[in-house]
Amino acid sequence: MPIFSFVQTKGGTGKTTLSQGVACSKTFAKAFGKVALVEIDPQGTLADWIGERIANKRALKNVAFHQLVGLDLGVLTSKLEKIVEENTAVILDVPGESVGGFATKLALNLSDLVFIPMRTSTNDEASFGRNLWPVIQESLRENKAAFHIVPTFIHPQTNTKNIQEYFRGIMPEQIDCLGSVLPFRSVFENFSREGMTLAEYSASVKGNNRLHAQAKKAEIDMETIAQEIVKLTKE
Ligand SMILES: Nc1ncnc2c1ncn2[C@@H]1O[C@H](COP(=O)(O)OP(=O)(O)OP(=O)(O)O)[C@@H](O)[C@H]1O
Ligand SMILES: [Mg+2]
Repeated sequence: MPIFSFVQTKGGTGKTTLSQGVACSKTFAKAFGKVALVEIDPQGTLADWIGERIANKRALKNVAFHQLVGLDLGVLTSKLEKIVEENTAVILDVPGESVGGFATKLALNLSDLVFIPMRTSTNDEASFGRNLWPVIQESLRENKAAFHIVPTFIHPQTNTKNIQEYFRGIMPEQIDCLGSVLPFRSVFENFSREGMTLAEYSASVKGNNRLHAQAKKAEIDMETIAQEIVKLTKE
């Protein structure tokens, strides 16, 4: 029963977009069946999205949503244990804490696979070295989690192999990089209005060839990342 987390102390790098997209992917439905999407971020981006889903009467068949906030480690851990028992995969959406704080540490300690969404930007790289890497190093002493960068906001025409090599070159050896990336696409900024998933958004713009083609590309981006994640669980 794998626990995945999307962790990055830097804000706005794609943690929530990826958590939601991977949790709702066809790939995860097929590989795991029941998936728990757990927001441990008091910012409540996903809680708002779920609120919109409820208001628009959209049902998620295989994805259960939970928001866990608060600073009592014992309470959080026991709630998470119950979620783990009831599902076949758990995805944690972790807040962008400017320094690696409580939620980041909790996620690193619980997860089997940790994904770090990151741009190819000097700001993100400096922030990783200063704020996230020290916390990861601490958790590596007692934890067996595997760490992977997910390159985000990548120009859609970029060669993904080059991006992977770039991150493998600059990151510490304990941090690998996925071969798939999350490209920059306006779809990722817009699809979740009214609480839609990518697939629902895609279906809703079927009448508009241009938007539909873009939405389909975004769906494929997300499914490709989900497939790579599933593959990693089998290694
Ligand atoms: N690949 C992308 N292309 C274009 N826009 C994106 C992409 N990924 C995310 N966004 C947009 O960028 C913003 C930040 O993304 P997101 O909320 O996923 O980041 P986050 O890391 O969860 O942020 P926070 O640290 O605040 O929790 C959102 O408005 C989202 O719609
Ligand atoms: Mg977020």
